[in-house]
Amino acid sequence: MGKSSKDKRDAYYRLAKEEGWRARSAYKLLQLDEEFNLFEGVTRVVDLCAAPGSWSQVLSRVLIKGEKFGRAGWQDKQKNMRDYVLGGGSGGEKKEKEEGKQEGDVGGEVEKKVESTPKLTPREGVRIVAIDLQPMSPLDGVTTMRADITHPSTIPLMLKALDPDTYDPTLPTSARSSPVDLVISDGAPDVTGLHDLDIYVQSQLLWAALNLALCVLKPGGKFVAKIFRGKDVDLLFAQLKIVFERVRVAKPRSSRASSIEAFVVCEGFCPPEGFMASLERPLGAGTVLPEPPKSDATKPEKKVTSRVREDGAIEIDLGDETDDEDDVEEGGRRWIAPFLACGDLSAYDSDATYHLPKDRVSLDPVQPPTAPPYKRALEMRKLAGGAYGKTKGRAEKAAS
Ligand SMILES: C[S@@+](CC[C@H](N)C(=O)[O-])C[C@H]1O[C@@H](n2cnc3c(N)ncnc32)[C@H](O)[C@@H]1O
Repeated sequence: MGKSSKDKRDAYYRLAKEEGWRARSAYKLLQLDEEFNLFEGVTRVVDLCAAPGSWSQVLSRVLIKGEKFGRAGWQDKQKNMRDYVLGGGSGGEKKEKEEGKQEGDVGGEVEKKVESTPKLTPREGVRIVAIDLQPMSPLDGVTTMRADITHPSTIPLMLKALDPDTYDPTLPTSARSSPVDLVISDGAPDVTGLHDLDIYVQSQLLWAALNLALCVLKPGGKFVAKIFRGKDVDLLFAQLKIVFERVRVAKPRSSRASSIEAFVVCEGFCPPEGFMASLERPLGAGTVLPEPPKSDATKPEKKVTSRVREDGAIEIDLGDETDDEDDVEEGGRRWIAPFLACGDLSAYDSDATYHLPKDRVSLDPVQPPTAPPYKRALEMRKLAGGAYGKTKGRAEKAAS
């Protein structure tokens, strides 16, 4: 697809270039944060499948620079404006205002000044590690790594990147603790268009991300990952619910309604007692979780069962232990992951086509891919003389 056709069709693609994000995906994370307050109290984060790096950009700007976006940014701006008008603005701001403008301009001037001096609240001890198969251009305060998240050798690399001074490779994974507040994964395979295959490969990426998260998350930590909503996705939610207190599915407004993509937002990491995360023995098909101790006689035993309904859907019954009344379907037995659409309704609709002014200039991408998988194909096409060699053939014909 040409740059201009994408420009016309996709508001977030254009907006990302205008606002300096490396990819439109930045808005997905910002809209998820808007809904779930993902970054509250967070300082240590792992960003999996991070290239070209727009999610890491969001992390860097929010955690390291202390910028605020969305509703929080707007509220901050309103507060600054109020403080300024009521006399709380700094001397420097006032002086500039007095020097420049006449009485009637004050409103606009205040707005401009307040807008140009947002209060930044950087956090202490921030650590961000970003991993991808593709190389990533550097970002402020982000440690980038080129690695495969499905490969066991990635975990020691990640642990070392998180704590370069204290990391001890001689300790088994289970004995090392590098608590991380948040693990995010926007991993996606190169889609083939064959839905079942794409969903399967995507689920493998998700498993890899979850296994990495289980090894580094601190109790109470959060895990956010892209999923494709396929037939058996209920099973996945139920599995996540075993290690997280809250599991919700969210569809940000910047994610096209026509796509099967959504995000699981898991909060309150609470592995079952006795569970030791390890990449030497990762969770996967056939993994048996340890039996919870039966010492607490007051708690009813948790019995997870599943059955295939006539319509093919898999119904999971998590027993009667769920404490979140809202998550329970009528009858109180089957647990369903709540589904939320997020992002303000005033935000752009990612499926709509917006009218563009005639004199609009199409901007270049903020960070062109460093080594895209299609690079070789482009080189070969160029050698062949353009699209499928047609240009070359035509040029030769024209010359003869
Ligand atoms: C949709 S992009 C991520 C966009 C990113 N969140 C951003 O905001 O810029 C999906 C990424 O997943 C990466 N990926 C796919 N399989 C991977 C794997 N096994 N290990 C690491 N990264 C992988 C791809 O290289 C690609 O960069």
